[in-house]
This record gives sequence, C-alpha cells and structure tokens, in this order.
Amino acid sequence: MNNTLILYKSKYGAAEKYARMLAEKLGAALLENKKLRPEQLKPFDAIIYCGGIYAGGVAGITLLRKNAALLNGKKVAVLAVGASPYDDKVIAQVKAQNLAGLPEGTALFYGRGAWDESVMTAGDRLLCGMLKKMIAKKDPAAMEPLEQALLEIMGKKCSWVDEKYLLPLITYIAA
Ligand SMILES: Cc1cc2nc3c(=O)[nH]c(=O)nc-3n(C[C@H](O)[C@H](O)[C@H](O)COP(=O)(O)O)c2cc1C
Repeated sequence: MNNTLILYKSKYGAAEKYARMLAEKLGAALLENKKLRPEQLKPFDAIIYCGGIYAGGVAGITLLRKNAALLNGKKVAVLAVGASPYDDKVIAQVKAQNLAGLPEGTALFYGRGAWDESVMTAGDRLLCGMLKKMIAKKDPAAMEPLEQALLEIMGKKCSWVDEKYLLPLITYIAA
C-alpha cells in the first residue's frame, strides 16, 4: 500500500531506523512526530507510528490520541520498540498501557531496539542504575522478561534492530 504515512519518535535512534526501513520497503511517506501538522494525516489510508518504549509507554503516542478523530476509517498500526526480548507477555503489557484512546482496531507490533548506556542522558543512566539495583535483589524466577534481559545487557552496547521484526507489520499493512 503506497498511501501510508510513517510517523516516528526516537530518542536514541532505534525507532527511527525501523521507521526508515518501513518507509523504504512500503514506499511510504516518513515524518518525525513533532513535525506533523494534523491536516497532513488526511490524505493517507494507513498510518504507522513507530516509538521507543520508556517505562512501558510508547514515546509520543499521545499524538495519535489527540488526533484520533482524524484517524477514523484509516488503518492504524503502532510499532513499539523496546529492549525487552519479544515475548507475548511483554506485548500484552505494552498493549494494555498504550492502546487506550486510540482508534478502535489499532494494531500493535513489536521490534526489539537497542541498548547503549554510553549515549544515554545522565537522567536515563541514573534511572537504569537504580533499576539494576532493584532487579539484582529479585528472585530470577520472578523477573519480567525485560528485567532478565537488563541483567545481561547492562553495561554492554547492544542493537537488535532487524528487518525480521517488520514482517508481520508489512503483511498487515499490505492486506
Ligand atoms: C529510561 C529508559 C526506560 C526504558 N524502558 C523500557 C521499557 O519499559 N521496556 C522496554 O522494552 N525497553 C525500555 N527501554 C529501552 C528502550 O526502549 C530501547 O533502548 C529502545 O531501543 C529505545 O528506542 P529509541 O532508540 O528509538 O529511543 C528503556 C530505556 C530507557 C533509557
């Protein structure tokens, strides 16, 4: 489907990489979320929103909520990009925390992003340090998938950005 607009918000670049890959594969228009003027949504049949996950929330997704009326009748999909490994429980949590107030039928997809504390803001690094201390005290059997992953990746530089995560979304948009 050519008549697709891809919006993105990315703090450290992973959601933007996915948005650019999608734009190329779908021949779609691409725009950073802060540059959108609501009337620009009108001509498109499908809108894909790509955003990094921060404390369970997809960055900038309120943009879709604010403009929900303009999205009625369009195919709307969200690509949530996080450090957690792909897991049904993770996807269910991201849906529960983010889909309220979005047009009915909004579909949520997941792409694993990246992790690099050396490029994070001081505030984000501080949060991550606190989280690491909290996780270290937990029983590994009671850890969430993200917590287990964080124990392994803290202090390392990782990128899991991969086209394979886009296949279900591309199939959905093309259908
Ligand atoms: C402060 C902070 C909170 C985060 N919270 C989550 C989270 O709740 N779930 C998750 O899967 N990843 C989480 N991450 C990891 C980011 O989602 C991941 O690095 C992603 O690639 C960010 O997308 P971006 O590069 O487009 O900003 C967090 C990262 C930071 C720095």
